[in-house]
Amino acid sequence: MKHFESRDGALYAEDVALERIAAEYGTPTFVYSRAALTEAHAAYADALAGRDAMLCYAVKSNSNLAIMNVFARLGTGFDIVSGGELARVIAAGGDPAKVVFSGVGKTRDEMRAALTHGIYCFNVESEAELHRLAEVAASLGKRAPIALRVNPDVDPKTHPYISTGLKCNKFGVPIADAHRIYLEAAKLPQLEIRGIACHIGSQLLDPAPVAEAAGKVVALAEALNRDGIELRHLDLGGGLGIRYDDETVPATRDYLAPLLAVLAGRKERLLLEPGRSLVGNAGVLLSKVEYLKRGEERNFAIIDAAMNDLARPALYDAYHRIAEVRPRGKADIYDVVGPVCESGDFLGRARELAVEQEDLVAIFSAGAYGMTMSSNYNTRARAAEVMVDGESVHLIRARERIEDLYAGERLLP
Ligand code: LLP
Repeated sequence: MKHFESRDGALYAEDVALERIAAEYGTPTFVYSRAALTEAHAAYADALAGRDAMLCYAVKSNSNLAIMNVFARLGTGFDIVSGGELARVIAAGGDPAKVVFSGVGKTRDEMRAALTHGIYCFNVESEAELHRLAEVAASLGKRAPIALRVNPDVDPKTHPYISTGLKCNKFGVPIADAHRIYLEAAKLPQLEIRGIACHIGSQLLDPAPVAEAAGKVVALAEALNRDGIELRHLDLGGGLGIRYDDETVPATRDYLAPLLAVLAGRKERLLLEPGRSLVGNAGVLLSKVEYLKRGEERNFAIIDAAMNDLARPALYDAYHRIAEVRPRGKADIYDVVGPVCESGDFLGRARELAVEQEDLVAIFSAGAYGMTMSSNYNTRARAAEVMVDGESVHLIRARERIEDLYAGERLLP
């Protein structure tokens, strides 16, 4: 993982030794590289150069304000899925006029907030939502900008939990119904049709399904144009995968090329909603080995990070590379587990590690869907987050304090 490399036998984040970060901030700590964020963004900017396009960073992948602010400064918009994420965009210095709002369950309050802040577009996911949005817009004397999120029924060939564009998924409206619903929307004066939205899944390694979905979106756009409905943009969602293990991951440019070919000659602006590919390999989870335990059948490295910090292995059986920060002693094979009282609390299975008790390990590719999916299970305070920028380290989220965890709780009288 670039920007997290070994120097003189120990792992660094850019120019800072992870050992120094552990000494100053403790463990577990998420460590991000600003250079990695900037480079991942530049890969999109280069691939899209010369095309009218807007990147809307998917906030759900990592919603730390400092990370969002790095992207806001680079000019991105944001893809949000809740009123909470909208509040973060504003707190991070993002521009609401570059926000798209996805999600199947938008509440009236969330709609009101988004309308009041003047977001760029609602990605509407059902007819019922369309009517609710028109009603809320009317009550505020505003027009709501919309795209319909269409479900193109394309198989993204990824993990079933993170594919979203199949008929069986809850997302979007079936593309076959979309035309009719657009005509309905066009009759509602409180709505302003801006585009079409589509997102087929996450951790995609093959560009073909997205290009196929784009083809269906273009066909719909042409049909709408024939009925006098003009569109400002086509939103093809996020999804580009990253390398966790030994997957072959296309370069951003190569992933986008077939999609851009399908869109060639279209005048609408292209919107993309990448999350993982911008942040996933820009962060590691730094953790300390508490104990080495020899079982009858397996050896365990019990570390101070757990499924509450990084849920992906427990939830999706996802692979994250784990490396010693400074290898030493004899290597052995370990299941790397956390202290949480669940057998599913593992970070990695059967990993070869040369570690002793109290040594540090780094869990790679933890920048996306790491902190945002963390929890307080077992009353564990959530990790600290730091951002490395060259030789500097910035604390971007203080470690949670135990008393904060129950601050809102009350005893019975
Ligand atoms: N846009 C929409 C509408 C989405 O639902 C998502 C992700 C994205 C954009 C960003 O997708 P990305 O570029 O990050 O692939 N927790 C899972 C991933 C869930 C993805 C949900 N939607 C994981 O850890 O793998």
